[in-house]
Amino acid sequence: MTKNITSEKILVLDFGSQYAQLIARRVREQNVYCEIVRHNISAERVREIQPMGIILSGGPSSVYEEGAPQCDSGIFHLGIPVLGICYGIHQMTHHLGGKVIGVPTREYGHSVMSVAKASPLWENVSENTTVWMSHGDQIGELPEGFEVLGKTDTCDCAAIGHQTLPLFGLQFHPEVTHSVEGEQILKNFLLNVCGCHGTWRLEDFERITIEKMRETIGDNRVICGLSGGVDSSVVAALLYKAIGDKLSCILVDNGLLRKNEASGVIELFTEHFHTDLHVVNAQELFLSQLAGITEPQEKRRRIGKAFIDCFASEAKKIENAKFLAQGTLYPDVIESGGAPDGPAATIKLHHNVGGLPKDLKFELVEPLRDLFKDEVRRLGLQLGLPESMVWRHPFPGPGLAVRCLGEVTEEKLSVLREADAIVLEELNNADLYRKTSQTFAVLLPVQSVGVMGDARTYENALAIRSVDTNDFMTADWSRLPYDVLARMSTRIINEIKGINRVVYDISSKPPATIEWE
Ligand code: XMP
Repeated sequence: MTKNITSEKILVLDFGSQYAQLIARRVREQNVYCEIVRHNISAERVREIQPMGIILSGGPSSVYEEGAPQCDSGIFHLGIPVLGICYGIHQMTHHLGGKVIGVPTREYGHSVMSVAKASPLWENVSENTTVWMSHGDQIGELPEGFEVLGKTDTCDCAAIGHQTLPLFGLQFHPEVTHSVEGEQILKNFLLNVCGCHGTWRLEDFERITIEKMRETIGDNRVICGLSGGVDSSVVAALLYKAIGDKLSCILVDNGLLRKNEASGVIELFTEHFHTDLHVVNAQELFLSQLAGITEPQEKRRRIGKAFIDCFASEAKKIENAKFLAQGTLYPDVIESGGAPDGPAATIKLHHNVGGLPKDLKFELVEPLRDLFKDEVRRLGLQLGLPESMVWRHPFPGPGLAVRCLGEVTEEKLSVLREADAIVLEELNNADLYRKTSQTFAVLLPVQSVGVMGDARTYENALAIRSVDTNDFMTADWSRLPYDVLARMSTRIINEIKGINRVVYDISSKPPATIEWE
C-alpha cells in the first residue's frame, strides 16, 4: 500500500528510541510522508527508495558500546540530506571521523540553545531557543568539514552542520513539544534542506487508497468486522466509499457492549452508510460461555473463541467474499516487524483475543496500515463519521466482562451498563470526555453496608476509573474535579438499584493496569 503514495518521502532510521514514531508523526504533520525503517538499512536500499531526506532517531545506546546499533556509513555519501538527532548525531559524528564522549552526569531537561552560525535550519527560529535535552554522550570532536551551528551552556555542539554537504545533527530532541521551536526546526530541515513541498494530504491518501482498493478487490466481496471502535469504523466507511454494496459488515453483539453501543453502530452503518450489515445476536451464547467463570484470562479465552465461532459462521453465509478487512495501523505494522524495511519486532504484550481461524481463507485488506491513530481520526471525520465515534475512548474486545469482576451475569451487566452510561454522560456534560484517555465504571464483587432512608442496605460497590495516557502502556489517573465525581456518585447511587457505594480509582499504571481484570 505504501508504494507511489507520494514521490516525497522521508526515512526515519530507528535506533531503538521511543522517539522514532514521534519523529515520524511530526514529519507527517508537516504534510511530508515518511516511513520508519530499521537502523541498519543498507545504503543501496536507501538509494533504491530515493527518499528526499533521512532522519536518524535517538536511541538508548552509546556509540562505542559493544553491540551498539550502527547505520551503514554509506548513507552519508548518497548526496541525500541527513539529520541526526541525539544518538543520531553521535552516529553521524562517529561514522564521519569525529569523536563522541561521555558526560559526567546525564543531561535531562530544558536548556537554552544559542544560534552560533546562520543555517537553513534556523529560519524563523529565535537566537536563543528552549530545547529539550536527554543524553549521556555528546560530541567531543567534530568530524572534518563540520561546524557548530548552536550551543548550550553545557553542550558546545548542540547543533552541527557540514560546511558544504546537507548533513546536520542536533543533540536535543526537536520532536518533543518541550523544544519550543522544534517543529519549526524540523520543518526547516524538510523544506529548506530536503526540498520537500509538504504535499502529503489525507485527501490524497483517501483517493489513492480507494483507487487501489477498487483495483485489488475487483468484483469480489469484502467482509469487515465492526466493533464500534474507531479503527474498524473508519475501515468500513472507507471501503463503503470505495466499493459500496460489495462491502458486507458483521457486528457480533456479544451482550458485553455498553449502553446503546450496538444500536448506534447499526444506525450509523445502515442509515448513514447503507452497508450490507449482518448483526449476530449472540448475547445468550456469550453469557452461557461465561457462566461460573471468574478467572479473567479464562473469560478472555472464552469470549475470543465465541467471537470467532460467531464471526466465522456468519462470514460463511456471505457469498463471493474473498477479502477480510482489518484496521491494522502503522504502529502495529512497525511493532510487529511487518514493514518490509521496518525495524525488527518489539515484544509487546497484546491482549487482543485471537485472530480469525485460518480455514476462513480470506485475503487481508488493511487500508489503514500506513496511518497513525491521529491520521485515522482525521480520515474518519473526512469520511463523514460523527465526532463521537472518531474520538471514542478505546474499549476492550472482551467488553464489560472484564469490568464486571468475578462471575458475569445478565443482572450484573445491566447494573454496570447503566452506571457506566451515567459516568460517561456526566463526563461529557463536564466537557471532559476528550480530555481523558479512557473513563469507565467497574462493578466490584464487594458488598458493603449503607443506609437509604431509614433502612439498612447491603449492596455492591462500584469503582470509577479514568486515566490520562499517550500510549496506554503507562497511564496516570485523571484528576477529575470533585464536583464531577460527586455528580457521578450521587446519580449512580440514586438511580441504580444495587449500588450503594462509589469509589474512585487513584492508581497509576504501572503498577496497576487500566482495566481491573
Ligand atoms: P491494561 O488493562 O492492560 O489496558 O492497562 C491497556 C489498554 O488495553 C485495553 N485492553 C484490552 N483491549 N482486549 C482488548 O482489545 C483485551 O482483552 C484488553 N484488555 C485491556 C484497555 O482497555 C486499555 O485501553
